[in-house]
Amino acid sequence: MPKILVCRDIGDKAMALLRAQPDWELVVWPNDSPADARWVEDKVQGCAGMICTLGEKITERIVGAAGDQLKVVSTMSVGVDHVDLHALAKRGIRLGYTPDVLTDAVADCSIMLALMASRCVTPAQSMLRSGTWGTLGWGPYLFCGPQLGAGPTGKQSTVGFLGFGRISQATLVRMAAFGVTHCVYYNSGRVDRTAADAALAAKLGLQSVKRVELPELASTSDVIFTLVPGGKETLHIVDEAFLRRMKKTAVLVNPGRGPIVDTNALIDALKEGWIWGAGLDVIEGEPHIPATHPLLHEPRCVIIPHIGSATIETREAMAMLCAQNLVGGLTEGKIDVEYTLS
Ligand code: GLV
Ligand code: GLV
Repeated sequence: MPKILVCRDIGDKAMALLRAQPDWELVVWPNDSPADARWVEDKVQGCAGMICTLGEKITERIVGAAGDQLKVVSTMSVGVDHVDLHALAKRGIRLGYTPDVLTDAVADCSIMLALMASRCVTPAQSMLRSGTWGTLGWGPYLFCGPQLGAGPTGKQSTVGFLGFGRISQATLVRMAAFGVTHCVYYNSGRVDRTAADAALAAKLGLQSVKRVELPELASTSDVIFTLVPGGKETLHIVDEAFLRRMKKTAVLVNPGRGPIVDTNALIDALKEGWIWGAGLDVIEGEPHIPATHPLLHEPRCVIIPHIGSATIETREAMAMLCAQNLVGGLTEGKIDVEYTLS
């Protein structure tokens, strides 16, 4: 009777799929919060499979505590930086994850953050909530920000992407509808995309889509979306030098992972006006962000608590895929969407 550790209840439909496995014994974290690491380490012993979210760190210690029955870990996320991939790989444990189904929701959220940051929604909301709108009234230049796309001047503008995967490309489709004229991106560049980029530009009506190095990405973009995976390789790619190169009118949007952006440098950038504003769905140190955190008090910063994929439809699809990945992996040796551990 395979024992399955469920670090988080992932919703009725997905849980029903797990419970429908005739011989599975589910051990489910009973609370509506990420599972406690000591509980996981204790309960994982003898488990064949495991469901987790990005709220649980799957460390060497936990994988080691599992014993050699553990065959499949299935995470309800596209990001896998909470999982020690090396710990899984060396034991031949397979990993399921949930890309694609969340692409549209995260792209939508990325646009929301870009608009909110550029259009000064944070200070506008504070003013309204403090009851002072009546004294200010409507002002010709009150809470004005830079136009994201062409607008009445038909200006040229450039959208930049750090990472050019599925979510970046879905965000680009949306930005094209705003009338941006150029796209630049930086990726690790193993594949030559020149032809694909030309085709993409033509399809979206852009003048160009082009891979550039980081300094050019920083200096030419009017809005930059950081959509690279988390982890050591991408730690603080957006650092002081990067932020100082950005245009004073540019907006930085981080829908990816907190540690991509050096928080202290970002605080300086906002305080000293190196950039226009920032929109963050993720932040270093999350979820332990005290009310005194400087970014929470920066008027040009919009922060939301890691809810990029949070549409009902998307979260249900992620949960179902997560459950299916585990069921398929354990019963047929086939994980629908498997993360390749190299
Ligand atoms: C969200 O950040 C995810 O990795 O799914
Ligand atoms: C990133 O953009 C992804 O969808 O993997």
